[in-house]
Amino acid sequence: MPLRVLQEATSPSNESHAPQHKSGSSLFYILGGLVVLAIVLIFLYVVWKRIKRPAQTMTVASKEHQEFGKHNESAEVMKMIFSSNQQSGSKEFFSGNLRTISCFDYQTLKKATENFHPDNLLGSGGFGPVYQGKLVDGRLVAVKKLALNKSQQGEKEFLVEVRTITSIQHKNLVRLLGCCVDGPQRLLVYEYMKNRSLDLFIHGNSDQFLNWSTRFQIILGVARGLQYLHEDSHQRIVHRDIKASNILLDDKFHPRIGDFGLARFFPEDQAYLSTQFAGTLGYTAPEYAIRGELSEKADIYSFGVLVLEIICCRKNTEHTLPSEMQYLPEYAWKLYENARILDIVDPKLREHGFVEKDVMQANHVAFLCLQPHAHLRPPMSEIVALLTFKIEMVTTPMRPAFLDRRPRKGDENHPLEALSQGFTSPIYLKASD
Ligand SMILES: *[C@@H]1O[C@H](CO)[C@@H](O)[C@H](O)[C@H]1NC(C)=O
Ligand SMILES: *[C@@H]1O[C@H](CO)[C@@H](O)[C@H](O)[C@H]1NC(C)=O
Ligand SMILES: *[C@@H]1O[C@H](CO)[C@@H](O)[C@H](O)[C@H]1NC(C)=O
Ligand SMILES: *[C@@H]1O[C@H](CO)[C@@H](O)[C@H](O)[C@H]1NC(C)=O
Repeated sequence: MPLRVLQEATSPSNESHAPQHKSGSSLFYILGGLVVLAIVLIFLYVVWKRIKRPAQTMTVASKEHQEFGKHNESAEVMKMIFSSNQQSGSKEFFSGNLRTISCFDYQTLKKATENFHPDNLLGSGGFGPVYQGKLVDGRLVAVKKLALNKSQQGEKEFLVEVRTITSIQHKNLVRLLGCCVDGPQRLLVYEYMKNRSLDLFIHGNSDQFLNWSTRFQIILGVARGLQYLHEDSHQRIVHRDIKASNILLDDKFHPRIGDFGLARFFPEDQAYLSTQFAGTLGYTAPEYAIRGELSEKADIYSFGVLVLEIICCRKNTEHTLPSEMQYLPEYAWKLYENARILDIVDPKLREHGFVEKDVMQANHVAFLCLQPHAHLRPPMSEIVALLTFKIEMVTTPMRPAFLDRRPRKGDENHPLEALSQGFTSPIYLKASD
């Protein structure tokens, strides 16, 4: 049976044997013609490239000269990594999701910040100082000088990371406008935020009072930004340095988290032990400070500290206060145990009035974030739901873990002592002396 089928199938080709011969020779001519055409096309393309390339370099170079001086190297690498925007010339590039990112020249940024004048210093975080700058077109920007040098990361790796950061977008995350590579220098250019950062309002002596609805908007915005970083963006990002000075505020006091993704530029093992991080020790989760165990739960801990700071309008650690009040999470917990939690609320806020239920809820959320065991801290999505009363608060928090700077011998079940057994922590030693 199969044989018959085979015969039937082959028989038509036998019948058309003669015409096939004819089409075979015409096929030869067609194929030959195509090969010749291809060779001609390749030749033309090579010639065209040869003619075109010097011209293109010239426009790049002359544009660079006009606008930025003679630094064109990073523009070339940018072109390799980002797709360049043909219409607006050589300085703007599209990242994968079509946000434009600019390649700035070092001289431009130097001029914009008046040679990085201390008067223009907006702040200095763990990753390097930030300066206010004014571009030639009048736009205000914030210029961050990364505290690293070329030996740690090549230009291409830097730009690949920049692209990653550019691709992470959320209304509660600060917007990156561009970057600059100049020799060993690595700079990032961000949008300028009118009301700068939260620490000026809750730690500083700003006259501006933030009412409860503004404060709640900030808490919720930061929670949403963190939720995006931890759970919703295509890359899981642990911020590592959530603190008041990293919460930037626009003219309507909408918060945006700054410095996210910057940990990518720094070697993993150095950051948490560096002296720059010791400055923000009060925000650091105990398992991270002591054992270097980093997960999004460390950010959640820092968020808890931040929420308390926003409610109370004070720094997490304040040595000028009476000793039982010095460390905010400890003090807040003491009041909570005595059912007096509303006593920690900023006196100015109490004068002005606040929604008691919201403040209680925010406090409760803060304690859940400060749980000594990382796995007991709820994920950010749950925190957002709790803050917006989308889910009921059922868990009762345990005593928070905190790094006590004044170790007392009598306190046996102190979380830090439990955690620090068997570990030598440079930060712990630093904090206790
Ligand atoms: C960069 O600029 C220098 C000097 O201005 C020039 O010699 C060089 O060819 C340029 N390189 C590129 C890739 O455009
Ligand atoms: C760059 O790093 C090396 C070692 O990592 C250090 O010795 C050098 O001082 C650094 N340079 C600058 C300009 O920071
Ligand atoms: C809180 O402050 C913001 C901005 O300062 C203002 O727009 C808003 O009306 C205030 N809300 C209340 C309830 O006072
Ligand atoms: C915050 O931004 C608003 C709008 O730009 C401005 O009027 C206000 O003065 C700013 N507050 C501070 C303390 O800078």
